[in-house]
Amino acid sequence: MLQVLHRFLDRLRGASRTDDRVHVLAERALFRRPGLAGRMAAELMSPAQTSGMFLTAPRRTGKSTFIRHDLVPALEREHRALVLYADLWDRREEDPGAVIVEVIGQALKAQEDRSGRAIRRLSLSRLKAPGVELEVARPREERQPSLRESLERLSDLAGKTVVLVIDEVQHTQATSLGREALYMLKAARDHLNACDKLKFRLLATGSHNEKIECLVSDKHQAFLGAHLEAMPTLGGADYLRWERGLHGPGFTASLEALEQAFEICLRRPAAFHRACRAAASEQRLEREAQDRLLLRRASELIDAEKRQLFVRLQALGPLEQAVLRLLAEDGRDFTPLFPPAKERLKDMLTVLPPDERPDVSTTSIRAALDQLCEARLVWRGDGPYALEESQFASWLLERPPVDTIPAPLGAELLDPSPKAA
Ligand SMILES: Nc1ncnc2c1ncn2[C@@H]1O[C@H](COP(=O)(O)OP(=O)(O)OP(=O)(O)O)[C@@H](O)[C@H]1O
Ligand SMILES: [Mg+2]
Repeated sequence: MLQVLHRFLDRLRGASRTDDRVHVLAERALFRRPGLAGRMAAELMSPAQTSGMFLTAPRRTGKSTFIRHDLVPALEREHRALVLYADLWDRREEDPGAVIVEVIGQALKAQEDRSGRAIRRLSLSRLKAPGVELEVARPREERQPSLRESLERLSDLAGKTVVLVIDEVQHTQATSLGREALYMLKAARDHLNACDKLKFRLLATGSHNEKIECLVSDKHQAFLGAHLEAMPTLGGADYLRWERGLHGPGFTASLEALEQAFEICLRRPAAFHRACRAAASEQRLEREAQDRLLLRRASELIDAEKRQLFVRLQALGPLEQAVLRLLAEDGRDFTPLFPPAKERLKDMLTVLPPDERPDVSTTSIRAALDQLCEARLVWRGDGPYALEESQFASWLLERPPVDTIPAPLGAELLDPSPKAA
């Protein structure tokens, strides 16, 4: 049945041959959350969300997967929305503002082409309908339309509510065009909210609370006051049973052990999957032995990640290490340039011989912070500093603040932002 549908879609797309490639992302590889998606889609389209919805959850917990595979289909199916997706992580080498503008521009162009074709088929040169006016022969306007104009025109031409999803919205804070794009979207939102039809909704995600909180709580930010919500992570008996079922009938770990292992894996499905697979590969164990093995495999995975972080620390100078430790200890209260913080940094550095202690000054602390941002251990948008990944805080606190053992020869910063599970 599915194949027939694909062939039909291929014909619609004008493809001259069928697509024989295997589906890599088999349905079974993803645990679906249609109930949650339905509720969130309804909430996003409700009058309560006129300001825009901002969702956060820690790294690698399945935000993008849920949005792409559950939420977007729910918005399209249940609300007939036209969903645009700006993935600022995937296109992080580009200016985030330009990515947003381009995503909207391309969607509008595609819609105009579709509408133009439809009108030409009717042999009309001009179409006028409530809210829509399109002249086929008219040359393109020279002036670039504003985001407000583009979004309104797109919504009118499609006859649908446009939902713009911005994945990893905190990246907008890295460039002036990115920040500007948010202001333009705010202007668009305010204008379109005043229309009699629901034309526009914004949904933005970010990987940790501290990174995007300032976007909705800082009075200089475009989306001050927008709704910030923690996105529910995977979990629960259905999910755990589903994951267990992926590893064959010989894998009989208890729900309690699965739950514990999922927690050890920081509720990240890919890491959890790897731990289950490793435990399941040793067949013919009693359930208790399998439970113990699963927990051991999960801990080993996390220990390996910690080691990666610790190798990256060894490539840092002592002051950078101390500043990083201060951030791990203080979190949101991090004020590294204040005198008490400077004293604490000096204390941490007393593990070094006096003549090897670096200078602790405003300038050297600023330089250390720049260095940490460059190494992608610390993040700074327009707001306060934050650890690049939230779990770094507890891992850093397990170690002495400053490592006095010199970095092993050849130790380099590992890939600064691995998308490791
Ligand atoms: N519902 C799911 N079922 C099974 N596996 C999943 C599910 N959601 C995510 N995963 C797995 O977890 C990995 C991370 O998912 P995803 O990229 O969606 O997370 P994220 O929170 O957006 O990550 P990041 O913080 O890097 O943006 C995916 O590659 C996928 O293997
Ligand atoms: Mg993501």
